[in-house]
Amino acid sequence: MEALQITGGNRLAGAVRVTGAKNSVLKLMAAAMLAPGRTTLTEVPGILDVEIMSELLRRLGCTVELDLAGGRVVIDVPEALEHRADYDLVRRMRASITVLGPLLARCGVVDVALPGGDNIGSRGLDMHVSGLQRMGAEVTIEHGYLIATAPRGLHGASVWLDFPSVGATETILMAAVTADGRTVIDNAAREPEIVDICSMLVDMGARIDGVGSSTLEIDGVRQLSPVEHATVPDRIVTGTWAVAAAITRGDITIANARPEHLQIALDKLTTAGARIEVVDEGLRVSMDHRPRAVDIVTLPYPGFPTDLQPQFIALNAVAEGTALVTENLFEARFRFVHELVRLGADVQTEGHHALVRGSEQLSGAPVEATDIRAGAGLVLAGLVAEGVTSVHEVHHIDRGYAGFVDDLVRLGASVTRVPVPG
Ligand code: UD1
Repeated sequence: MEALQITGGNRLAGAVRVTGAKNSVLKLMAAAMLAPGRTTLTEVPGILDVEIMSELLRRLGCTVELDLAGGRVVIDVPEALEHRADYDLVRRMRASITVLGPLLARCGVVDVALPGGDNIGSRGLDMHVSGLQRMGAEVTIEHGYLIATAPRGLHGASVWLDFPSVGATETILMAAVTADGRTVIDNAAREPEIVDICSMLVDMGARIDGVGSSTLEIDGVRQLSPVEHATVPDRIVTGTWAVAAAITRGDITIANARPEHLQIALDKLTTAGARIEVVDEGLRVSMDHRPRAVDIVTLPYPGFPTDLQPQFIALNAVAEGTALVTENLFEARFRFVHELVRLGADVQTEGHHALVRGSEQLSGAPVEATDIRAGAGLVLAGLVAEGVTSVHEVHHIDRGYAGFVDDLVRLGASVTRVPVPG
């Protein structure tokens, strides 16, 4: 057990580089299973979830060479895959569910343990299931496992999603690329990570129209070939560094950032008073005064990302004025607010709204990360709290932020990882 011990008050300045997105690379790794042979992924972030996904792929029969330091993974996919994803791995990472589509497509049968993952709400699978059923799969739930079978293969279908779910879009997409005939996914998610997986699938030989729009049209092909693919840069890590610059009244250049994937969040930071410049390397964010409060409403892309909501609550907690934050994606995402309040933040929640009254100064205390992004939000608050903040349950942060402590220290923060007894 470890905690991050932060002494607040330092201004962050300098340069960091973001690598590939967690929410893309895990899906790219699953997509690799659609093609026998060696797929190489680069710009792979050095995070725990990539290790968990590598282990899962090995159990499914793949040979995985993971070079976390070099940001590279080579996945050798056999002709015959196993089709069972066990609970011990799936419970550690909800994104394991991503193997559902590719395994059903390749094996005609898949049993995946029902996932756990982040503690941020109920996170149903109904849209994944109904999409696969429309494509001819039979789906049952037995003993904690979701079992899908398509003995006669999958066929194309029209699928209308009730909500542009990222996970459901990916499951149906990966099942559809080798299905018999045309699949149309309406109200599809259009996150940059969906565009990334589509572009890899197209390179592999898939036929997908409407990439980046809310209607994906997929014409199934007989087989796909392995490729080499660079993971899209992580817009949530980029956004976290941007808030770090604003909250500490610092100046950070974020290399390999893709500002076009973060337009609303960057616009909010400008409203808060930050200066945003697009530079050759990526993005430069600086701030020379106390931030102003900014209202936030989370929505599917291109709306404001729920994965940046805790970081912006931290910013608002020390801003001038009062902000209303509305969370529309995950019901339990305000759980971390109780921890932020321990640092002296003035936040009231009511259903999916949070009212944040900016305080002049937070004060350090022990707090607990409840999920990846909550952890990032608490670290940001700790950077500006007076005294020492220890963020416990740091393993959550390790799931999403590669080399976080090293980067923070390089930028001037006073942060160390400390063991927590017992
Ligand atoms: C992904 C991201 C997560 C991000 C989220 C929204 C990964 C590994 N995780 O999660 O970081 O916060 O997108 O941008 O990529 N829902 C259903 N039924 C379904 C599917 C989803 O009710 O079949 C609900 C969920 O409970 C949730 C909402 O839809 O309330 C959004 O879920 P979804 O877009 O699928 O998010 P994830 O893919 O789980």
